[in-house]
Formats: sequence, C-alpha cells, structure tokens
Amino acid sequence: MNNIAYYNGTYAPLEELTIPALDRAVYFGDGVYEAAYFRNGRPFALDDHLKRFKNSLGFVKIAYPTESEEELEKILRGLCDKIGGEGIVYWQTSRATAPRNHAFPENAKSNLLAWAKHKPLGDFTAPIKLMTMDDIRYKMCNVKTLNLMPNIMASQAAKESGCDEAVFVRDGLVTEGSHSNIHIIKDKKIITHENGSLILPGTVRSHLLRVAEKLGIAYEERPFAPEEMYTADEVLVTSATTFFRHACELNGRAVGMRDNETYMQLVGEYMQWMERETE
Ligand code: PDD
Repeated sequence: MNNIAYYNGTYAPLEELTIPALDRAVYFGDGVYEAAYFRNGRPFALDDHLKRFKNSLGFVKIAYPTESEEELEKILRGLCDKIGGEGIVYWQTSRATAPRNHAFPENAKSNLLAWAKHKPLGDFTAPIKLMTMDDIRYKMCNVKTLNLMPNIMASQAAKESGCDEAVFVRDGLVTEGSHSNIHIIKDKKIITHENGSLILPGTVRSHLLRVAEKLGIAYEERPFAPEEMYTADEVLVTSATTFFRHACELNGRAVGMRDNETYMQLVGEYMQWMERETE
C-alpha cells in the first residue's frame, strides 16, 4: 500500500477518495491544514503540528474536527502505521459542508480529510536554487490556511525559472519561502525572521533553534534583506517535508555554501534527534 486516505470516517486509496462539492474547502479553501513527516510508520514532532493546527483552527474559528484531540491523534498515527516506512501525513479541516455563502453556516460541523503516503526525504547535501518574489500575501501568514494562491504562483514562477523555491520579500525584507522558512548563517550565527503575522511559525524553524541552542550555536530572530543572503555563509531552507536544504544560488547569483561545517553540524544533530523519536 503506497497511500491511504480518510474523510469523516471513511478510508480509501487517496486516488479514489471523493469529497462533497459543498465542502467549503472546495469553493472557498475555507480550512486549515498540516503536513508532517513519519518514519518507521511513526509521525515526527506530531505534538508540534497538532498544537499549530489547534492555533490555526482557533484563529479562523473552525471547530475541532474530532470529539477529542486524542481521537485525531489516533487517526493520524493509524494512517502512518498502515503505510509504514517513511513519508508524509497530511490533514486538513474545513469549516463545514454547506451551500455557498461567505458567512459561516449555522451549527457548522467541520470536516476532516487526512492521508499518508510514502515519500523519502531528499538529500540534505544537494544544494538548491532560489529566486525572490514580491510577497503579495496578507497578514495572516501565521495561520496555515488552505488559501495558498500567492504561494502556488510563486512556486510555479520559481519552477519555470529553473529554481527550487521562491523567497518572499516584503518591504525589502525576506519573510519566508513559498512553502518553507528561510534562514541565513553568518559568522557561525543563525539569523531568521521572527514569528508573527508575516511568516508561518515553522516546526522545523523552531526545532532548528532548539538544536542550535543545544550545540551552542548563536541565533538572532530578525528579518534580513536579500542582499544579506549574498554575503551569508549559508542560506538554509527548512520545512517538515524535506527538513533541510542549503542554497547555492539566488536570482542566478552564487550564495552560501561557505560554512558546510555548521550546516552539517545542525543537520546531523537534528537527524539524530528525529531518528531517536521515530525509532
Ligand atoms: N509547508 N512557511 C510556509 C509558507 C510553509 O508552507 C511551510 C511548510 C513552512 C515550514 O513549516 P514547517 O517547518 O512546519 O513545515 C513555512 C508545508 C510543508 C506544505 O505546505 O506542504
């Protein structure tokens, strides 16, 4: 079995699962989501994802999709366990199934769509190419909503330019990637945008800082300009589906790749921790 999906109590292969046309996710993207990595059929950092999920739901006033938090956790762990090995578990909750109307329906009962599929982690040592894009998004970037149009457009533009990820720039400062957080290392210090309404509080971002603390590597939470990326020793891209990448190019110009020691120290410590957690 390569994947398994779930919708409001029904299980099916992902390709065969259908959802009602009146699920508000379909016509409004009115929902929030999470994506986490699993190994040996065991999700990694699930608590952090569930915490962010609950925050996202609260922010947009969507009801929790299961009777209890334990029930959701059980469903997600069950999906990972059924697939086994390593991969991604994804879940989303939309507000309700109801006729199209912008305001919330009365007595809304939220929906849960979830799936797990095999997906190996890529190669952390393989450098990637980045390009900057105007960050045209709103000030709710801390909420992991299904509304991802600017992210999709940026990701596609990067792909068409032969790049692996787009770096959003707002008022001259880097916020985050189209589906990742962006950090730099300069003189053995990590610099990363502070959490707030302009970025998603990445799980790997917070883990990176935890690992840095453990290793005695300093960090500073502040925005940086794209120009700082050119003079940085390393440019890091993090997300729960790939964990770490470092960049070799930004807008066609060489960046980073000058402090592989610190990069690999962080990655090595992170992977040891992840492997212990998913033993
Ligand atoms: N995206 N910022 C954005 C806009 C993201 O979409 C993501 C992750 C991150 C990194 O967050 P985390 O470290 O918790 O994955 C930052 C997921 C992987 C996705 O949309 O598929």
